Amino acid sequence: MKKILVTGGCGYIGAHTIVDLLQHGYHVISADNNSRSKPNILDGVERITGVKVKNYTVDLCIFDDTHAIFQENPDLAGVIHFAAYKAVGESVEKPLLYFENNLNSLLNILRCCDNFQIPNFVFSSSCTVYGNPDESPVTESTATHEAESPYGYTKQMGEKIVQQTANSNEMNAILLRYFNPVGAHPSNEIGEIPLGKPANLVPAITQTAIGKLPQMLVFGNDYPTRDGSCIRDYIHVVDIAHAHTLALDYLIAGKNKGNCEIFNLGTGNGYTVLEAIRMFEQVSEQALNYSISGRRAGDITAIFANNEKARQLLGWVPQFSLEDMMRTAWNWEQKLKREETLLGGQNVFLN
Ligand code: WQD
Repeated sequence: MKKILVTGGCGYIGAHTIVDLLQHGYHVISADNNSRSKPNILDGVERITGVKVKNYTVDLCIFDDTHAIFQENPDLAGVIHFAAYKAVGESVEKPLLYFENNLNSLLNILRCCDNFQIPNFVFSSSCTVYGNPDESPVTESTATHEAESPYGYTKQMGEKIVQQTANSNEMNAILLRYFNPVGAHPSNEIGEIPLGKPANLVPAITQTAIGKLPQMLVFGNDYPTRDGSCIRDYIHVVDIAHAHTLALDYLIAGKNKGNCEIFNLGTGNGYTVLEAIRMFEQVSEQALNYSISGRRAGDITAIFANNEKARQLLGWVPQFSLEDMMRTAWNWEQKLKREETLLGGQNVFLN
């Protein structure tokens, strides 16, 4: 059974990816210092898969501690690297924190992969590397532009670091550019747990609908789009997760042409903010309390994916619709509320 190290395994996409890897015959270990996550998300993974995944509570910015994981697991068939800070707004306020954390952890992981000759590496990247694209849908060869935030720069720089490293040694790498990951596992055992007030659209919608937020703001309806609000490519987190399994299968089978290939992970459909809200209202059968405000700095008008390359080469076919995304997100938010009520305001997922 091939063993995979998932860094950031207690995170939203990391945990969903661990579930998919386990369900497709991989053995998995996690490394996550829980600075932005909770270890008990792996209890949810165990409830889904029956497997108790070992997590190394390690700060990957500390080389010796990172190296110790590889020393204990020299037989890794691959590494999937999620561990990074990802809050766009925070990155603008604290750029050095983002460059230190996101780049030092990546450099340590890559150094260890080189020292232990780990053959396969999958990097968690983002459509943010395109900046404000000239066109949509974007393909993997669409020109990238200046990133919109220090977070975006860490993804652009991270991609270059991975590419140059893979070009210089025997490692084979894949960069996966996520569009907008949303939703929760259909089992309702794991889902997104934003820390603090959510910046992203779907948790802002569900927290407003459940009453945790008084009202949601739509950041601008004066964009040059069909209804004036921004267009994004929302993609279910389980579809994103399965793409990681397919990417590892592809590398392990030696199907890769180059030693660092890039894949867009989006549905190829762009929805406006107001269309997403309408879909949520249809799913939840309740009106959402929102109002239109000014534009948010750094937002781009529209971006959605051309995902043909992932379809053709990885055999990746997104399964979840926007309706599924909203339904699973809403089910999860309602579960969090029930847990808080049961536990007198505490939340088992947050403790
Ligand atoms: C989507 C749309 C907002 C909240 C970011 C990162 C990207 C990736 C996903 C990490 C925009 C609008 C949002 C709200 C709103 N993250 N919105 N009211 O900005 O496309 O992408 O998250 O990899 O890298 O850049 O996602 O969900 O924040 O916003 O109107 O309360 O929803 O203006 O048009 P974004 P988002």
